[in-house]
Amino acid sequence: MKVLYAVSEARPFAASGGLADVAGSLPRALRKRLVGCRVVMPLYASVPEELRQNMKFITHISVPVSWRSQYCGIFEARHGGVIYYLLDNQYYFKRDNYYSYYDDAERFAFFARAVLEIIPHIGFVPDIIHCNDWQTALTPVYHSCFYANKEGYSHIKTIFTIHNIQYQGVFGREILHDVLGLGDEHYSLLEYDGAINLMKGGIECAHMVTTVSPTYAKEILDPWYSHGLDSILLQRAWKIKGILNGIDTDYYNPETDPDIPANYSCLSPENKALNKAALQKEMGLPEKEDTPLIGIVSRLVGHKGFDLVKAILEGVLQNEDVQLAVLGSGEWQYESFFKEMHEKHPEKVGVFIGFNPSLAKRVYAGSDLFLMPSKSEPCGLAQMVALRYGTVPIVRATGGLKDSVFEGEEGNGFVFEGYNPEELLKAIDRALRLYEDKKSWRNLRQRAFDSDYSWGKSANEYIKIYKEVIKKY
Ligand code: GLC
Repeated sequence: MKVLYAVSEARPFAASGGLADVAGSLPRALRKRLVGCRVVMPLYASVPEELRQNMKFITHISVPVSWRSQYCGIFEARHGGVIYYLLDNQYYFKRDNYYSYYDDAERFAFFARAVLEIIPHIGFVPDIIHCNDWQTALTPVYHSCFYANKEGYSHIKTIFTIHNIQYQGVFGREILHDVLGLGDEHYSLLEYDGAINLMKGGIECAHMVTTVSPTYAKEILDPWYSHGLDSILLQRAWKIKGILNGIDTDYYNPETDPDIPANYSCLSPENKALNKAALQKEMGLPEKEDTPLIGIVSRLVGHKGFDLVKAILEGVLQNEDVQLAVLGSGEWQYESFFKEMHEKHPEKVGVFIGFNPSLAKRVYAGSDLFLMPSKSEPCGLAQMVALRYGTVPIVRATGGLKDSVFEGEEGNGFVFEGYNPEELLKAIDRALRLYEDKKSWRNLRQRAFDSDYSWGKSANEYIKIYKEVIKKY
């Protein structure tokens, strides 16, 4: 079985969020299970030089973008045993960022079409094209409209994975002919609420739709979570499945991690204390061994639940002996809130505004607790990484958080249900009280270490779906 994994970002070539982690680790896990899997992604200007040096130019082709014919250079790179195709077009991808340009529809129409067009040129004919999020949602649409009856393509099946339903790729109707190159007869595939909605097109046209946790697969059928797409998903519920993401346990490994000051493992966790002291220092906090340190590594945006944190943090800081280490960037209101908390409580709150993968690992390693009170969380990887580093998560029971963190005698963290400040406050209180009881704390931390969120089980579930789809269509 051969899978072409189409994605707009994959670590280590390009990363802005969890999608890149998944694309950087699931293909390797599939290959370990003897499934041929190669990745195709855009060649952005920011792909690091050392990775570019190992890229091999294969050929160039022309890709139709409506009436345009656009250059597409195909480069091949190998990383971690996986072959990556990086598609080059400087007009579309030589820019400072990956997304949020006026012509995103055109850029990703080009990419989605190129995913199909490169197939005769790469010596790899997939049985499955596995697409991810709105940026590649047009691949199943183009496949079903233009390629499904074409020689060399008719056997191919498409899978579409929703990593976050909030970002759907919504554009005006006017792009249908001129940018997407589709006819009026195709409009109904993409139309939603009077606009063109790429994610809706992917859901409609893919043979199977997956999302990144079983709980999120149920949640997105509910208007509170669906960002408007619940009715479409309800009609298609038979082809939707939730598979929990895994993490790359080689990259995130406290025993070998080169980014943390002192390595440790679940069998000898003593050095975790050195990481705590170093993190306190790096964050400008007093080095206090016995003060519980809560870490946050997150995009600072609404759905991560920071409104709840805003409502309670001042009170917690006034009443408790606790420290907070915050790493993230995003909306101004949350960035300025954490900066203000730091100014008011410099002994208790350390803040680094920005995206810094190596500092992120020091926060995972150096914190005692890890806070993720998300309003919605399709899967969430940070809680799994925290567990891997023996750092106990406090989460709200939503999406993948609900599927990976459990509270109780056999549990690995602290969980609250309702999206309200009181419940968050109580969860933090339970965590801080348990922290005071050294023996119970050590046991809980051990269970955190023991939680296994490597890819094994989930990769097998994907393989099962690939097989099902191949058999069924
Ligand atoms: C998105 C989701 C996050 C998920 C990640 C990888 O970033 O918001 O919850 O873990 O995709 O699937």
